[in-house]
Amino acid sequence: MGGGAVAAQPQAHANATLLIRANRIVPCYHASVAWARVTTAALALTCGSCGPQQDGSYPGASDAVPEGPAPSASVKPEPTPTKWALWDAVQTWPIANRASFRSLGHAGVGDVDIRVQPEHLDRYRSLVVDTTWPQGITLVETLRGPATPTAGAYAMTRLRDQTWRFLVIDGKGMIQQTGPLPLCTRCHAEAVAGYVFGLPTDQRPVAESDAGVDG
Ligand code: HEC
Repeated sequence: MGGGAVAAQPQAHANATLLIRANRIVPCYHASVAWARVTTAALALTCGSCGPQQDGSYPGASDAVPEGPAPSASVKPEPTPTKWALWDAVQTWPIANRASFRSLGHAGVGDVDIRVQPEHLDRYRSLVVDTTWPQGITLVETLRGPATPTAGAYAMTRLRDQTWRFLVIDGKGMIQQTGPLPLCTRCHAEAVAGYVFGLPTDQRPVAESDAGVDG
């Protein structure tokens, strides 16, 4: 799909490394994402050196700034801000995580929740590497933290052609960016299952079979 020229052309590099610790897979990220200011809104998002360990010393993570792919014209800036049609509905969707958590992938945005349509909740929560994503499923990471000037959301919708449309939404539900956004795509290409990371392990619901078993 290549890159895309967007209103705020990200100067970014993103490396994601999966560290296998003991019997669980810990996603680690070292990414530097600087968004130029998006036209009207002050939704400036920074993916700095992400993750709880901020020393950038993940094994395998590189500090080198790779050359980004050449931008193409496939992503058009929104001419005038448009309200995202799903925004109001999203507020009613169930939250998949157990408690709000600090985003690892979108560092600097503070605490987040992941919302998904009720009919797809189980699929998202129980994600495994070969989980597939039906057309129309929409995953939304809503920002709660005071770290952002306007709490908005990141979203992704599965399209008919099996690709994802990514969206950056501001706190009023207005679309700031949308399309196969290259920055999002690049990092999510490293995700667990078909561009989807899923919940951090400590945010997954306790399986009933496990919950009953004590020690
Ligand atoms: C540097 C890597 C990185 C970049 C860049 C990135 N993400 Fe993410 N994204 C993650 C990680 C990791 C998660 C898991 C939850 C978390 O830590 O926030 C995630 C979670 C999500 C989710 C919840 C679904 C899931 O994958 O579990 C959505 C929706 C999302 N991102 C949208 C976006 C959008 C839109 C962009 C571009 C504006 C973007 N992301 C850019 C790493 C990234």
